[in-house]
Amino acid sequence: MNKSEILAATTWRRAIKKYNGQQIPDEDWQFLLEVARLAPSSMGLEPWHILEINDSDLRQKIADVSWGVKEKMPDVAKFIVFTVTKDLSPESAYFREIRDMHGYSAELQESMIQLHRDFGIRDADLSDARKSHDWAAKQAYIAFAQMIFAAAEIGVDSTPVEGYSKEALEQVLTEAGALDPEKDSVALCAAFGYRDGEVKHPKSRRPLDKIVKVI
Ligand SMILES: Cc1cc2nc3c(=O)[nH]c(=O)nc-3n(C[C@H](O)[C@H](O)[C@H](O)COP(=O)(O)O)c2cc1C
Repeated sequence: MNKSEILAATTWRRAIKKYNGQQIPDEDWQFLLEVARLAPSSMGLEPWHILEINDSDLRQKIADVSWGVKEKMPDVAKFIVFTVTKDLSPESAYFREIRDMHGYSAELQESMIQLHRDFGIRDADLSDARKSHDWAAKQAYIAFAQMIFAAAEIGVDSTPVEGYSKEALEQVLTEAGALDPEKDSVALCAAFGYRDGEVKHPKSRRPLDKIVKVI
């Protein structure tokens, strides 16, 4: 894609309020999941999981506690929930799994643990559950952002969804056996599909000189 095509896709991307019920070809959907998978993350921890909710009963229960997607849900092609890992401490099973996955040498493993102690505990204070959740959620938002921009580039619509009660949504997912609340928490949701007609309101943003300060 050239620059004007990228800008055109970025402008075309809107937070869709009404979907048309059309399904996304599996090849395109797998491509979008792959884009998420390849996202960067702090310390390479990839602290997210994606729940792809295809079960219609569960979708309805999610819609009932999520005003941000309630009206749209019946016509959305894909609905996902990003969850994040709660325990990311150097001693955690998750941290070990990631180190093993990377196949780090013993020496590199040691320096990664040290980096985690220096950054994760001293600087970012990930020992606090809320801070740890927020930090992990920030990483999930990167994967999510890559997904929605890639979606726009292939003509797939999306809506970021933060309009839900986190507590109620986690309860619904836990009761459905989709979430282990001891291990994971919800970071954000997203809907994908195709817009129903044109978006009525023009895209509106602050001008660049109100955003960028050159020093
Ligand atoms: C993190 C995040 C959460 C959002 N949550 C919702 C939501 O729950 N429901 C919804 O309809 N739109 C939601 N939006 C859409 C925003 O309102 C929308 O992106 C913004 O108004 C700009 O419009 P545009 O995306 O069409 O350019 C969300 C956007 C972001 C980035």
